[in-house]
Amino acid sequence: MQIDNAIHRIKAAVGAKGWSENSTELIPSMMYSVGCPPGEAKLFVSPLTTEEVSQVMALCNQANIPVVPQGGNTGMCGGAIPDPSKTSVILSLRRMNNVRDLSTLDYTITVEAGCILQDIQGAAEQANRFFPLSLGAEGSCQIGGNLATNAGGINVLRYGNTRDLALGLEVVLPDGTVLNGLRRLKKDNTGYDLKHLFIGAEGTMGIITAAVLKLFPYPQSRSTAFCAIVDLESSLSLLAMARELSGDQISSFELIPRIALETVAKHRDDIQLPFSPGEAEWYVLMEISTSRKNDDLGSLNELILGEAIDAGIISNAVIAQSEKQKNGLWAIREALVEVQKEEGYSIKHDVSVPINRIPELIHLACERVLAICPGIRPYPFGHVGDGNIHFNFSPPPTLPAKKFLEFIDQINQIVYDIVDSLDGSFSAEHGIGQTKVAALETYRSATEVALMKNIKQLVDPRYLMNPGKLFPDPAFNSEAL
Ligand code: MLT
Ligand code: ZN
Repeated sequence: MQIDNAIHRIKAAVGAKGWSENSTELIPSMMYSVGCPPGEAKLFVSPLTTEEVSQVMALCNQANIPVVPQGGNTGMCGGAIPDPSKTSVILSLRRMNNVRDLSTLDYTITVEAGCILQDIQGAAEQANRFFPLSLGAEGSCQIGGNLATNAGGINVLRYGNTRDLALGLEVVLPDGTVLNGLRRLKKDNTGYDLKHLFIGAEGTMGIITAAVLKLFPYPQSRSTAFCAIVDLESSLSLLAMARELSGDQISSFELIPRIALETVAKHRDDIQLPFSPGEAEWYVLMEISTSRKNDDLGSLNELILGEAIDAGIISNAVIAQSEKQKNGLWAIREALVEVQKEEGYSIKHDVSVPINRIPELIHLACERVLAICPGIRPYPFGHVGDGNIHFNFSPPPTLPAKKFLEFIDQINQIVYDIVDSLDGSFSAEHGIGQTKVAALETYRSATEVALMKNIKQLVDPRYLMNPGKLFPDPAFNSEAL
């Protein structure tokens, strides 16, 4: 089919409200917030139904038009941004934002891909249920994107990644076929679990249009503490002890370095710190929660932290005594990324290692990176309870930005090589997108990469789904397999 004819029919399929060529619509949807060059697209479409998505996909397939699926466009690796060739159609799920079903008995919610994460949390809460996926972009990211990137966030320790929260998916395949897997089953041992082909595939296999997600009892009681840790190793002892003494009720366990606290103090007058930043080199923000009403988790937290002080694991701690204080402690964690931006361009990594190797990772990477770039300011923070560290580096205060950027490749290699030697992952929660394509080829085994490419080839033989994401674009052909 001719491209012009296909575009004409795509517009007819989605109706006047479902497409745009207007630059005010297109430009923001082609920008990637982390600083890569913007893309270009031929058309922006936002179908209203699965049937419309299916029609668009079939037409694109027949006319060989690449498709870039897009949710809230809050990803960290440019996965929802088209390449600059101006040949692709951006397919936004934003108008497919209905909650199709919520069952308090089944503890499930069935949602369309364009539902905003915060709206799903809210719908669950209204039914006295809890949808635990929670991350910085929750007010604008969409569940389809969360599934496509297997998003993580602050509750993974207790509830798992997005992958663990999905029971069933509805997906439109590259040729327009609808794969209806909206099952609500916890047990279903009937061959390959196909939903996992699409979760974390970053839109390279098809379009996720709806999902059945797990819900949990709503956490009625919470207690949040901010702890000054004696040393890095002790954060792991605290986690192990807290899990044991709390009856495994720890829902978040976040590591914060002294430099991050200092940076918050420097740039955010509105945030009150529980200690002066110099109190310790490392801090942990820890939350315990339970669905039992009026459970005295404050006393439980006191008991845990008292034992931790006696064991020489922590030197000081503050337990929030009110909702306001709890929010104040979380505000520190939530500000870490923004305040670091005030200190100049940062070189970022989102890595994971087995939890007991975190201290080794941090010590080794700091030592080796400082050796090649004296004065660089390591800024490692994040989900230590998941083994996931956002290992960022701020520039030496006197080094010009241009000079600092020259270190990117070397620093990436140092960090990734250490992570690899510790049996870790170079991308723990942000995915591959377009920015980590080369790292995937380097740090996943040849066997794994070849198998991934074979699966991609089988599901998307024309290589039309989100080209250039996960794998290099023009280099992808069957001879390379
Ligand atoms: C976080 O956990 O704060 C984010 O995943 C890190 C980031 O935005 O770089
Ligand atoms: Zn994170």
